[in-house]
Amino acid sequence: MKQSSVISHQLSVISYQSSVISYQLTVNSLLPKTHYPLTKTQNPLLITHYPFPLPYSMTLNFDQQMMQQCLKLARQALGKTAPNPLVGSVIVQDGKIIGEGFHPGAGEPHAEVFALRNAGEQAKGATVYVNLEPCNHFGRTPPCTEALIAAKIAKVVVGMVDPNPLVSGTGIQRLKDAGIEVIVGIETADCQQLNEAFTHQILHHQPLGIWKYAMTLDGKIATTTGHSYWVTGTEARQKVHQLRVACDAVIVGGNTVRRDNPLLTTHDAGEPNPLRVVMSRTLDLPKQAHLWDTQEAKTLVITEEGINPDFQHFLQNKGVEVAELSPLTPAQVMTYFYKRQFLSVLWECGGTLATNALKDGSIHKILAFIAPKIIGGSGAPSPVGDLGFTQMTEALLLERMTWGSVGCDLWIEGYLSPA
Ligand SMILES: NC(=O)c1ccc[n+]([C@@H]2O[C@H](COP(=O)([O-])OP(=O)(O)OC[C@H]3O[C@@H](n4cnc5c(N)ncnc54)[C@H](OP(=O)(O)O)[C@@H]3O)[C@@H](O)[C@H]2O)c1
Ligand SMILES: [Zn+2]
Repeated sequence: MKQSSVISHQLSVISYQSSVISYQLTVNSLLPKTHYPLTKTQNPLLITHYPFPLPYSMTLNFDQQMMQQCLKLARQALGKTAPNPLVGSVIVQDGKIIGEGFHPGAGEPHAEVFALRNAGEQAKGATVYVNLEPCNHFGRTPPCTEALIAAKIAKVVVGMVDPNPLVSGTGIQRLKDAGIEVIVGIETADCQQLNEAFTHQILHHQPLGIWKYAMTLDGKIATTTGHSYWVTGTEARQKVHQLRVACDAVIVGGNTVRRDNPLLTTHDAGEPNPLRVVMSRTLDLPKQAHLWDTQEAKTLVITEEGINPDFQHFLQNKGVEVAELSPLTPAQVMTYFYKRQFLSVLWECGGTLATNALKDGSIHKILAFIAPKIIGGSGAPSPVGDLGFTQMTEALLLERMTWGSVGCDLWIEGYLSPA
């Protein structure tokens, strides 16, 4: 939604705010059926990209409701803010929302500035809610702390501190020094979840690598002939389209282009499309492929130095960007995207590339869909090739697991434990 439409939406928001205080927030429509007791904050899907049903409802206090409203506003810019975080802000006076805003993208004003503009004169003495610590430095825009101080805000409620160790806490301190009451740590887990890619990129100097795959119950991602349309049902595939909206790039290998001719777009899940990326060492790719049609979404082909210049020209004439990286490894590609200031990269490749991405630390989060199907075939590909392990004790472990069902398929999500 455009910022202007958010602002116009305010009139109706303000009118129902008095009832919001006692409103029991029911999030039944958001989370999956789970098979173990799960707190709201344990489940990343609550605030991420795919609306699965929640097993129960919860009552949130006023501060929590306002912070959830910040997160809802922030999410309107999913996939559009890199290298900046997703931030929403709400301004409350006498228990009523008088201003709202979110950060639409790099170079644009921050969420607090939009919310202050929306509130106008009424902001004096009000409480500002914001899911991330207000900035205290001159970047592309002036510091939000100064805007809050100038607007004579009385209190600021912060969801999470800035993860950047160089600035963390300085915005909060600046506000306190100016006599503003500051509360930190409301709905923190949800705030951290929403900006997990931003945080990862700052702390690890690389984008968050998410690997998504779909397999049959017997662990196959395609048939013995390479046919894979479709492993999962419509609903699961729609969830993937939603996930693509939130990611800056989606990557496949040359073989997936040759076999599947994928689109890799968001389909009906909305804007923006991620940059579609093909890693190919040979550039032995078909001249006809959906990915070479760049009207709807951009495509980047990454190959090694000096490979097949004729095909490189062919791609460039089609509007496809071509980059050369030698040696072409997933880790090199992650470094390349870090330099391009990407926050999140979605690996949607087959087992060969995924194996190398796992080996060189380019995958941090895994989302697997499991279809209730058995296809068999001893030569049919599975999600991962040889990792060189011989003992079960060597297995890569996942943590912070969540799981559920979507349509007739199952999904399971987790984070690779640090080695
Ligand atoms: N069910 C699913 O979730 C899913 C998802 C994706 C694919 N698939 C299936 O998986 C099969 C393809 O599997 P695949 O493993 O060959 O997948 P892939 O995604 O095509 O990855 C392998 C290709 O990546 C390229 N590559 C570039 N740099 C590489 C590197 N450092 N390490 C490894 N590969 C590199 C190579 O392309 P070049 O040969 O062009 O040099 C290589 O052939 C297809 O049948 C497809 O249908 C299934
Ligand atoms: Zn700011």
